[in-house]
Amino acid sequence: MLDTLLALGSAFRDNVDMSSQNLTIVRPDDWHLHLRDGDAMQAVLLDTARRFGRAIVMPNLRPPVTTVELASAYRARILAALANVADTVQAKRFDPLMTLYLTDNMTPAEIEAAAASDFVHGVKLYPAGATTNSDSGVTDLMRCDAAIARMAELGLPLLVHGEVTNADVDVFDREAVFIDSVLLPLLTRHPDLRVVLEHITTAQGVAFVREGGANVAGTLTAHHLLYNRNAIFTGGIRPHYYCLPVLKREQHREALLEAATSGHRRFFLGTDSAPHARLTKEASCGCAGCYTSHAGIELYAEAFEQAGALDQLEAFASLNGPDWYGLPRNDGTITLLKQSWTVADTMSYVNNDVLVPLRAGEQVKWLLKQN
Ligand code: DOR
Ligand code: ZN
Repeated sequence: MLDTLLALGSAFRDNVDMSSQNLTIVRPDDWHLHLRDGDAMQAVLLDTARRFGRAIVMPNLRPPVTTVELASAYRARILAALANVADTVQAKRFDPLMTLYLTDNMTPAEIEAAAASDFVHGVKLYPAGATTNSDSGVTDLMRCDAAIARMAELGLPLLVHGEVTNADVDVFDREAVFIDSVLLPLLTRHPDLRVVLEHITTAQGVAFVREGGANVAGTLTAHHLLYNRNAIFTGGIRPHYYCLPVLKREQHREALLEAATSGHRRFFLGTDSAPHARLTKEASCGCAGCYTSHAGIELYAEAFEQAGALDQLEAFASLNGPDWYGLPRNDGTITLLKQSWTVADTMSYVNNDVLVPLRAGEQVKWLLKQN
């Protein structure tokens, strides 16, 4: 019991119910994560390092991580923070996989340097203005077409925030329109380009991955598997359920859950855990992003259990991702106990503010056991 209490860390409030069921899987990875920087990073890093062997770290800092040199320095800061907070051998072994932020000015030479490095694993496409810290994102993909051509040649994946930004496209349609108007033409120009459609939120996104070749994959968040757009509006406006791409209709959630639990090898786990201080979310114009790393694997276990597919969790969380990225699967395992616990109302964060984790004050049905 002490072990499990320790494993919960700061998000733990209390412990209610016990059962004998548990689940052991190969240690998972998070293929889409926002770690931020400085004290903010230090506040959240352990939640990920306790659960996951590796994470693909998003580059949307201010200023963005646009070069291999900046990615190397960011990685060093993550490892230094990890040395401060890691409390177990496993957490110390956490390996941050870095990404570059694609801009109109990205050069083929920078892509070559990224591919030659052993720590840059992808290049992130944010359409300019699509989401948090995307102001430096791409305004027109043709402007960086030479860099993308080099990525296709070298096999460096493009990690895509798949939303158009046109104000005349309904916010709930932005992913579907992006697939038709940007992504499919991009793959026609570069059929070998390795693409991950990140945080898929629609049936159209699922179809895009299914119909794509071996070079096309997709990540799914726990919150998009567990919630539909009603969650944002239940009894009032609920900013902690607001993220981008925004939660969609129930029929889309069902399509995502089906994809995640289907055993299809090109869907894998990416939490898109995106911490924001409470006052920046509970505001007249609140930031997009849900913080989920405090229960980063447990929430997926809930979703898979709901679908009667716990036996598929390991492939989705621990095998499909490394296989697609061409990396070894993690050594070792984690164990989840079928035991409910209550998420803390808040967690300490930065600027004298707190972080409100997803499910704050509510129960999560699975509990991470420390190995
Ligand atoms: O909800 C989101 N938050 N979506 C994103 O694409 C970015 C992220 C963030 O950085 O906060
Ligand atoms: Zn993200």
